[in-house]
Amino acid sequence: MVGVAVVGCGRIGRVHARNAAGNSRASLVMVFDVAGTAAEQTATELGVKAARSLEEVLADDSVDAVLVATPTDTHVPLITAAVKAGKAVLCEKPVDLDPQRARECWSGIAGGNPRVMVGFNRRFDPSFKSLRERLEGGEVGPLELAIITSRDPAPPPAAYIKSSGGLMRDMTIHDFDMARYLAGDIAQVHAFAANLVDPSTAALGDVDTCVVSLRAASGALIQINNSRRCVYGYDQRIEAFGAGGMLQAGNQYPTSVESWGAARTGARDGVLNFFIERYREAYEAELDAFISCVEEGRAMSPDFSDGVEALLLAEAAERSFRTGRVVDLG
Ligand SMILES: NC(=O)c1ccc[n+]([C@@H]2O[C@H](COP(=O)([O-])OP(=O)(O)OC[C@H]3O[C@@H](n4cnc5c(N)ncnc54)[C@H](O)[C@@H]3O)[C@@H](O)[C@H]2O)c1
Repeated sequence: MVGVAVVGCGRIGRVHARNAAGNSRASLVMVFDVAGTAAEQTATELGVKAARSLEEVLADDSVDAVLVATPTDTHVPLITAAVKAGKAVLCEKPVDLDPQRARECWSGIAGGNPRVMVGFNRRFDPSFKSLRERLEGGEVGPLELAIITSRDPAPPPAAYIKSSGGLMRDMTIHDFDMARYLAGDIAQVHAFAANLVDPSTAALGDVDTCVVSLRAASGALIQINNSRRCVYGYDQRIEAFGAGGMLQAGNQYPTSVESWGAARTGARDGVLNFFIERYREAYEAELDAFISCVEEGRAMSPDFSDGVEALLLAEAAERSFRTGRVVDLG
């Protein structure tokens, strides 16, 4: 049984806490949040202890693993403290907003047998995972083209945007990781970005819409498109194309009912609305994979370096849309 503590009981922390409580090989020992009420609520719901400090979490020998689900600018100090206390870590994406700071974090902990997984949950989505396995199995031949579509139902609040690090580091980062998951190392990046959704995002210096083109070292070409607004729900699709055909992983719907009438055919409900519903199975499988790695002493995947690589792509894409140039990755 792997003893787990969740640090940060906000939107995603509560998902991880519930999954840890429901995992047969994990035991949720305690939760912690600097906002005591958030920790108390989660602790009461799941029948566990609400720790009063981070020190209390890290000093507890029954805690083998810490799930870091706090705002991004706290990830580096929390990963560092947890690894130094001998805990395995599952840290939410992105590892940090600055690749240099992330690398310094790794240099500081590398000597202490760090066991760190990064929360790129889409790798654990059953459809995306199967698409990748079938691609690797040669079903459509070597990857030539991939299209990754990711559109949020609605923009986040201004306070979130302010501390998010911008669209590329906050949202597109998942798609950069999917691009690497499908195509391996990326050699070149080009991005266009715009404010087409909400003028208040522009006032905060951020963008809400983008098209990113990537050239993989293998020669495959990948296109990512993102929007912070999508009226039909949380649009999450992947297409992988090669000489032997195409693999496509589509959206998920609350039901499979279709409506056919004079004005439309094959109309369904809107797609599942946002990440907590759409990636429910992925978050469960992600936590399960993490628990297996801890239990069996296996290497974490995706690991800290995957977190840094995705961050480098986010930085390159931002440089590209701000300068209008293609960015070569050395
Ligand atoms: N993988 C995904 O699908 C996914 C989805 C949402 C968010 N995220 C990531 O998860 C992180 C958290 O996002 P969120 O939307 O859950 O945020 P949130 O604001 O809903 O929750 C964060 C919580 O952390 C607490 N907190 C802040 N600093 C803390 C500290 N030092 N110690 C303990 N608790 C602290 C806050 O009080 C809050 O309750 C972000 O890095 C975000 O990018 C990932």
